[in-house]
Amino acid sequence: MSVTKVRHPLPARLQPEGPLTALAPMQDVTDLAFMRVIAHYGAPDYFFTEFFRVHAHSRPEAHILRSIDENSTGRPVFAQVIGEDLGFLDRTIRELLRHNVAGIDLNLGCPAPKVYKKNVGGGLLREPEKIGEILSMLRQAVPGLFTVKMRIGFSDTSNFDRLIDLINEHRVDLLSVHGRTVREMYRSEVHYDYIARAVARAQCPVLANGNVTSAPRAGSILAETRAAGVMIGRHAIRNPWIFRQCREHFAGAPISRITLGDVREYVARLYDATRSPGVPENCHVNKMKKYLNFVGQSVDATGTFLHDMRRTETELDLFKTCDRHLLGDANREFSPEPYPGVIARPNCETPGTIAAGCSLETVTA
Ligand SMILES: Cc1cc2nc3c(=O)[nH]c(=O)nc-3n(C[C@H](O)[C@H](O)[C@H](O)COP(=O)(O)O)c2cc1C
Repeated sequence: MSVTKVRHPLPARLQPEGPLTALAPMQDVTDLAFMRVIAHYGAPDYFFTEFFRVHAHSRPEAHILRSIDENSTGRPVFAQVIGEDLGFLDRTIRELLRHNVAGIDLNLGCPAPKVYKKNVGGGLLREPEKIGEILSMLRQAVPGLFTVKMRIGFSDTSNFDRLIDLINEHRVDLLSVHGRTVREMYRSEVHYDYIARAVARAQCPVLANGNVTSAPRAGSILAETRAAGVMIGRHAIRNPWIFRQCREHFAGAPISRITLGDVREYVARLYDATRSPGVPENCHVNKMKKYLNFVGQSVDATGTFLHDMRRTETELDLFKTCDRHLLGDANREFSPEPYPGVIARPNCETPGTIAAGCSLETVTA
């Protein structure tokens, strides 16, 4: 029997003629509350959950399932899995397929040592044969959309073409490429030439991922790579208006100007939306600092907001600091690009420091 080459159509996009946009999966960030906040300012075409861990005793995590089951944004949600055992993966995706998922996404990129040492996520990029087995099993088990998110290699790009050939062979429906190797973590330049190479070689649409900092930058990355769309992570935490701005830019319309006053409103919305019942105030303030590390990259060029924000301990302190920095000059523009040298996650993003994982929990506030 010949294998069908027909691909599953992707869900309708918000801007029928425009490139695709997607919110990148981010552990401890892209939960239901955050997706709702993002949708308030302008949803992406697609959401991806943070990864569901797959191992012998795993069950899909309840809090991640909520981002699918209770998602009222109107936008499709892809469920991401991370694992390597065929039987456990099969069991997990059968459970996930009972929920309203747009598709199943396989994580081939997580660079956290504690993850890749288990030979999952980015660790698998060292073993194309194993990836072939996983893709083959998943393709047979997923009746609808099956997508992959990958980095361009583990320590180098020697397996890159082979990996794209496997993506083709197993009829993956959508491929997101973060243009760095696992070893490069979040620190190096993004290798957009490899994203362009994936676009040229892959038979499915490709989303370009890595340092898509603004709508104009999305436009230039799309022009350079010819990708079908962009996937945006950290810069959507910094600027939740980014997907709306991308659509404006793609349509040739002026890009909305965001003020520091608008950002103060975002901080309040995020604070309320992400506070879980029973969480002590100081813990929630610490959680907020993790988002604000990114927001602060566009508040001032000297990082003064970041400096002051990181020293707050109570809700009152935090909002007083926000008021001082964001309402003092509320009409000033929130910089569309991060200010150069203002680093959100010093441990992860600066060369020569200890490599941290891909969780906000690894950030020292
Ligand atoms: C806090 C954080 C958590 C992440 N968690 C995941 C994850 O669960 N799954 C995944 O595929 N990538 C994860 N990533 C990687 C992002 O999806 C994305 O590939 C990376 O941040 C580069 O894109 P950006 O420059 O737009 O942020 C995470 C990144 C960050 C910063």
